[in-house]
Amino acid sequence: MPQAAQPNVSPQTLDIRPVAGALGAEIHGVDLSAELSEETAVEIRQALLDHLVIFFRDQDITPEHHLAFGRHFGDVLEYPLIKGLEGFPEIMTVVKLENEKLNFGGLWHSDTTYLEEPPMGSILVARELPPQGGDTIFANMYLAYEMLSEAMQKMLDPLKGISVSNLPKVTATRDERARVSGTIAPETVLKATHPVVRTHPETGRKLLYVNGGHTLKFEGMSEEESAPLLEYLFEHQTRPEFTCRFAWQPGSIAFWDNRCTQHLPVNDYHGYKRVMHRITLAGGKPA
Ligand code: OGA
Ligand code: MN
Repeated sequence: MPQAAQPNVSPQTLDIRPVAGALGAEIHGVDLSAELSEETAVEIRQALLDHLVIFFRDQDITPEHHLAFGRHFGDVLEYPLIKGLEGFPEIMTVVKLENEKLNFGGLWHSDTTYLEEPPMGSILVARELPPQGGDTIFANMYLAYEMLSEAMQKMLDPLKGISVSNLPKVTATRDERARVSGTIAPETVLKATHPVVRTHPETGRKLLYVNGGHTLKFEGMSEEESAPLLEYLFEHQTRPEFTCRFAWQPGSIAFWDNRCTQHLPVNDYHGYKRVMHRITLAGGKPA
């Protein structure tokens, strides 16, 4: 019989290694297939708040472990538009097949901001990787806000942004998946209004909260009026110095704080298959 994994006893053994100046840290010294102590979970949550996205390497976890790990940090949600894994409705497969051209979510975005309560985070596990390529880039939205001029910050502070689920550039990236395993009629549009400058509910820090994947326009303005400023912000918020890049390996896991980051899965592995498992954690109403 295989031996039961040992519980992670000493939280002091967490070894946190930042991977870039802007955000991101690898966490070593923890086995996510073992029962996580509450102390270790608290340390991991603090690392997430400090580094915005955290990475684990060389983990060998089942879907059950994936869910159990996620539940230490909040309620696990089902993805609104696409059916989950057989037997694990909360686990969504993020996949690009050998013959597909577009990758799921293949543009800068934060996840499902067209919901009234967008998720606090997602935990993505690599299941099948191309021989090279298929990295994911993350960006820090606190920095994006802080690096704007004071006058621009003041102008943005009172504004609201409208997020929708059907911007053509993003629906194109999930059409194939929605066709195979969609859960709602393709013409259904989800829509939510959120502050353009949000205060993180745990850190109390302000951050820029628009994203190129879902933000359609500013509330009270036309799309045409909104476009120039939105385009500027989309460009600004993904400057290289606000980002880190994660190269996946078998056994890699990424856990991002969806409230204060954006991500971009790099679509540079045409002809190869890439399969990831994602779970999504409940968040609150942005304020
Ligand atoms: C996602 C997503 C990133 C990736 O799951 O929300 O954008 O690297 N995926 O596949
Ligand atoms: Mn995403």
